[in-house]
Amino acid sequence: MIIKTFVLTPFQQNTRVVACEETRKAICIDPGERSDDLVDFIKDNHLELQAITLTHGHLDHIGGTADLAKSFPDAEILLHKDDEDLYYGLPQQPLMMGIPPAQMKALGFDYEPPPRLTRNFQHGEDYEVGRLKFSVRHCPGHTRGHVVLAEVSERKVFTGDCLFNGSIGRTDLPGGNYEQLIESIEQNILSLSDDFTVYCGHGPETSVGGEKESNPFLSGANRALKGRFF
Ligand SMILES: [Fe+2]
Repeated sequence: MIIKTFVLTPFQQNTRVVACEETRKAICIDPGERSDDLVDFIKDNHLELQAITLTHGHLDHIGGTADLAKSFPDAEILLHKDDEDLYYGLPQQPLMMGIPPAQMKALGFDYEPPPRLTRNFQHGEDYEVGRLKFSVRHCPGHTRGHVVLAEVSERKVFTGDCLFNGSIGRTDLPGGNYEQLIESIEQNILSLSDDFTVYCGHGPETSVGGEKESNPFLSGANRALKGRFF
């Protein structure tokens, strides 16, 4: 299994190429922005980009989809249906973050409408990439249509903005819901075995066991108080 991370966008988002070493089939999880290094890595390593797989529809995870699709027009584009409004609304997303239209271009947030999705991810499906098989798990809470991708035999899970090393995704943006996010993490991520490596959408990797042990948002006391300490 090949995993290559590119830290992109002003939000330091982890764009990843994940590939099957034997068949060279690959996916790009969350292309955050246009990146020549990303395109060169796929070509230089003779990978076949099968799909652009999106964990959710926020701009720092999908902003590079249009450019990557131009370089690899045969790649399918997959996202859960409940984040389609965010995806197709990409050009308007900077407004959601309070960036005035007049400043979007100067700040690097002017987006063309993204290409059509090929289809939607379904909760519970197994998505095959060569010999790799990703279990697709719908994890609403950060956004309505967030999914995580778990490669069970390789003991790896790609968690987007659901779960971070020592933290969880924010829930104050449209579609966010704190209780739902905690439930999603418990049901779909913490239910994996402790030795799974967790590849987060921002920041360093961690493990399921490590987060169970030390993530303050997942401790019993915090859950009982629903995050409200004061
Ligand atoms: Fe996000």
